[in-house]
Amino acid sequence: MYDMHCHIVPKVDDGADSFETSIKMIKIAKRNGFKGIFATPHYVDNTTYNNTKLIKENFLKLKDKIKKEGLDIDIYIGNEVYVVPNLIKLFEKGFIYTLNNSRYMLIEFPMLDNPYFIESLIYDLKVKGIVPIIAHPERYKMITNNPNVLFKLIKQGALVQINLPSLKGSYGPIIKDTAKKLIEHNMIHFVGTDAHSFNIRTPNVEKPFKILKSHLDNKKLKKILYENPKAVINDKEIKIWEPKECVKQSKINKFIRRYLTEKNKRN
Ligand SMILES: [Fe+2]
Repeated sequence: MYDMHCHIVPKVDDGADSFETSIKMIKIAKRNGFKGIFATPHYVDNTTYNNTKLIKENFLKLKDKIKKEGLDIDIYIGNEVYVVPNLIKLFEKGFIYTLNNSRYMLIEFPMLDNPYFIESLIYDLKVKGIVPIIAHPERYKMITNNPNVLFKLIKQGALVQINLPSLKGSYGPIIKDTAKKLIEHNMIHFVGTDAHSFNIRTPNVEKPFKILKSHLDNKKLKKILYENPKAVINDKEIKIWEPKECVKQSKINKFIRRYLTEKNKRN
């Protein structure tokens, strides 16, 4: 399987702090069954997380070290791009790495705000031939409040990556429930570890992976874990299954459902 979101490139963001850490992370990833990792350092305009040249240099050095260590795992360059209204300009200037230099770009939203320009940005990216992949939407307040915001963005042409640790509650119960809801409503296309280190936010995803498997049939699992990532690597089109809109349950519906469940138990 493939990790679509990992801060494995050392010394470029708040991820791996040394090459030694990166190698330790890769060894954990390998034990967890990952065959390939997308290296997605933060790209945040007007901060220190914007050193395009250093990202490439350290990525290539890491690739070399993986080879020398004899680790059978592939890494692919990318960024986790924090959305700003002028994102297209930054991309056109060559500051941003799409995933393996393909048409797919991993983008990150603010955790708490609901930026006014998201829909127009998705539209503009699509016009430029870029397919945005929304990183960990289950963590954003605007999505936990209303998952149908994501439904609309998928309908617009965006794809979705959830963090595996969300499924075991690493970011709290609301995010855990939202992640499960997104799976149940066909609103995920990739998974990632979003690992930053080997000890705290690690690529060890044994428990959440079991949870993921319990929610998906083999066909969907194969598409999320292998087919979609391979399409990204090879810059091929991805066909998605129809997302389902979340229907808010009314209090009366909840009451009827609970009554029927209890009745069934008694019978
Ligand atoms: Fe991240």
